[in-house]
Amino acid sequence: MANLPTSLSINSPPYGGPAPSPLTTPAAAAAALAAVAVQSKDRKMASAEQLVLDLCDPELRENALLDLSKEIVSIYPSLSPPTLSPGASNRVCNALALLQCVASHSETRVLFLNAHIPLYLYPFLNTTSKTRPFEYLRLTSLGVIGALVKVDDPDVISFLLQTEIIPLCLRTMEMGSELSKTVATFIVQKILLDDVGLRYICTTAERFFAVGTVLANMVVSLVEQPSTRLLKHIIRCYLRLSDNQRACEALQNCLPEMLKDGTFNNCLRDDPATRRWLQQLLHNISGGSLVSALQPGGLEHMLGN
Ligand code: TRP
Repeated sequence: MANLPTSLSINSPPYGGPAPSPLTTPAAAAAALAAVAVQSKDRKMASAEQLVLDLCDPELRENALLDLSKEIVSIYPSLSPPTLSPGASNRVCNALALLQCVASHSETRVLFLNAHIPLYLYPFLNTTSKTRPFEYLRLTSLGVIGALVKVDDPDVISFLLQTEIIPLCLRTMEMGSELSKTVATFIVQKILLDDVGLRYICTTAERFFAVGTVLANMVVSLVEQPSTRLLKHIIRCYLRLSDNQRACEALQNCLPEMLKDGTFNNCLRDDPATRRWLQQLLHNISGGSLVSALQPGGLEHMLGN
């Protein structure tokens, strides 16, 4: 990973001043921490319960977050070489679920970003082991980033771009499970939907083709293992890329044939919104001549189905 830009250097206490208390109510937060306790030894359970209580107290919160960060950092040594145990992965994933609450809450999202907490997760996204503990860890980490991008906030996108989240997402899109591929593609989609994000990805041919190649490979793999929800995010990514003129021209050559020839008509049978995105995409890159293949009476008709 590249060095942090100076604009992101850690220079202010993340939780200075009276902070809001978002974790007093969400049941998810309590459940997540209860799960931390369940996964831990009895000895640790009391302290985990205490952590939940401490997070709700502005005086004790900073220290509780420090304990959480220690839990997360403690597994770094088992990332490479990959020796992470299922139990350790579980515990950290529960801690991450708690962080996801902080990332999701409107009052804490900005603080979460200013504290650069997402960076704690990047080492998890940089792993390549396909075993369950690692897959679960990547999925949960992507869930935290996914929660951040769910609200359309340019500051979130700017942070993610500056910290080079995209190559990490592309890695999961290449080798993850269907679910983590879907979350990673969703994150890339949300970045593309941001004007700065689209420009960032289309600035160099290398970036564009890195994204385009991974999207195309996923399309090919969907033939063997269909997933309507993954296909939907892939198509939305392509459609958004086609809003950029140079990317649109490049897509005329590198959009997978399978998106043009009706291969996925059946998969999209019950998803009219995604079908319209695909038609719009084909319209954008071809000026309309390809769209007929996907409409009733088009290629479907010619093929007799
Ligand atoms: N440093 C690389 C760049 O700025 C980061 C990167 C790798 C990247 N692959 C990418 C960025 C794909 C966008 C898309 O190009």
